[in-house]
Parts: sequence; C-alpha cells; structure tokens
Amino acid sequence: MPGKIAVSMMCADIMKLGDTLKSFEKNKIEYLHIDVMDGSFVPNMQLGVDYIKQLRKCSNIPLDIHLMIERPEDKLEWFDIQEGEMVSIHYESTNHVQRALNVIKNKGAKAALALNPATPLTSLDESLPDLDAILLMTVNPGYAGQPLVKQTIEKIRRLRDHLNQTGYKHIEIEVDGNVSFENAKIMHEAGAEIFVAGSSSVFHKNMTFNDSIEKLRKSINN
Ligand code: DX5
Ligand code: ZN
Repeated sequence: MPGKIAVSMMCADIMKLGDTLKSFEKNKIEYLHIDVMDGSFVPNMQLGVDYIKQLRKCSNIPLDIHLMIERPEDKLEWFDIQEGEMVSIHYESTNHVQRALNVIKNKGAKAALALNPATPLTSLDESLPDLDAILLMTVNPGYAGQPLVKQTIEKIRRLRDHLNQTGYKHIEIEVDGNVSFENAKIMHEAGAEIFVAGSSSVFHKNMTFNDSIEKLRKSINN
C-alpha cells in the first residue's frame, strides 16, 4: 500500500505559507501535521489553537493534530476538532488515555495514541480497540532536525506484526521524526503507513516542494 504524507507545519516558512499550502494541495498531500507543544510535556512551545483555526480556513487538507501537552483530556475542547481529522495524544501525558481518546472519537475524528521512543509497545494493548492509528515517535519529541533513534525501526516492525496477528490490521502506524528519504523507505518496509515529513524530506533545503514530495513518494510507494 502506498504511504500517506503528513507535512510538518512547524517546518513551514510563515512568509510563504499561502504558496506552500497551494503546493501541498496540488501534490495531494494527505494531512497537515500540526505539532502542539506546551513547554511542559516537551521542552518547546509550538503551534497554538488560533493557528489551527486559521489554517482550517486556508486549506481543505485534513489536519493531523499531534498533541504533546500534559492532560490533553482537559484541553481537547479548545481545538474545535472536526470530522475526518486525526488527533494524537501521548500515552505518557495523561492517566486518562481512554477518556481523551473517547472525546476525539465523539467528534468524528480519528483517534491516535502516540508513544515516545522509550515507551514500550505493551503500553498500547488495553487501548487497541479504541484506536484508528498509532504514532510512533522515531526521535524524542520537541524539535525538528534530530537524528533517528535507531531502535525504533525494529519497534515499527514488531508493532505491525503484533497488530496483524491480534486482529488490528486496520490500525495505521504513523512515524514522526527524521523521516528522511532513506529512513522513510526502511520505515515503510517495516510497516509504517503515514509519514511525518519535516526538515529531513519535504522541507529539505535547496529542493522545491514538487521535487521533495515526488522523492518522498518514491520512497514510500513500492
Ligand atoms: C518532532 C516533530 C516533527 C518534526 C519532524 O517533535 O513532531 O514533526 O518536524 O521533522 P524532522 O525530524 O524531519 O525535522
Ligand atoms: Zn509531530
């Protein structure tokens, strides 16, 4: 199955946002990935509620909202989640994982659970019936431009096997962090389906969006 691209909007040049979004629409990008960071769960602050609401008015590409925030269940209402969007919360960010996932699903959005590189796959088991996707962080979240945590490749493979063997084949695996052209191919072979494209691929310096998207599609289409 060909992989889907979720472009990381924190990497976009705000001076060129309009043209950038047009190019993503022309290239049939599947999701706009929005990193929401609260300065507490991760050591950075990024993309807020008003940015998200504005972005919805500027593009028809569905949003993929990645919440790196403490106690997301208290804050989900702020985001005005829409049908057809994807929303990820982190396993490590709350004692109420299923409560938060239910809020997302009740909005008609796809619910995803995200795991940091060091969080074991067994953390997912009780939530599988509630999930549309699993976001595996392949770097520690917080910044663009970090090197791959290498053991996450094997983690993708183990998760894909586990999902297939336990009746959850339909759950999509999304990967986020240093998804370079080379790493994307390996991640795709390991079983990933949604690829967060940041500074390592679509926003690669010295490449046009047409060229970088075409190159990434080649890595994830075979
Ligand atoms: C990492 C962010 C990513 C980041 C990935 O915390 O979630 O979206 O932009 O892009 P790279 O690693 O390619 O810069
Ligand atoms: Zn992200």
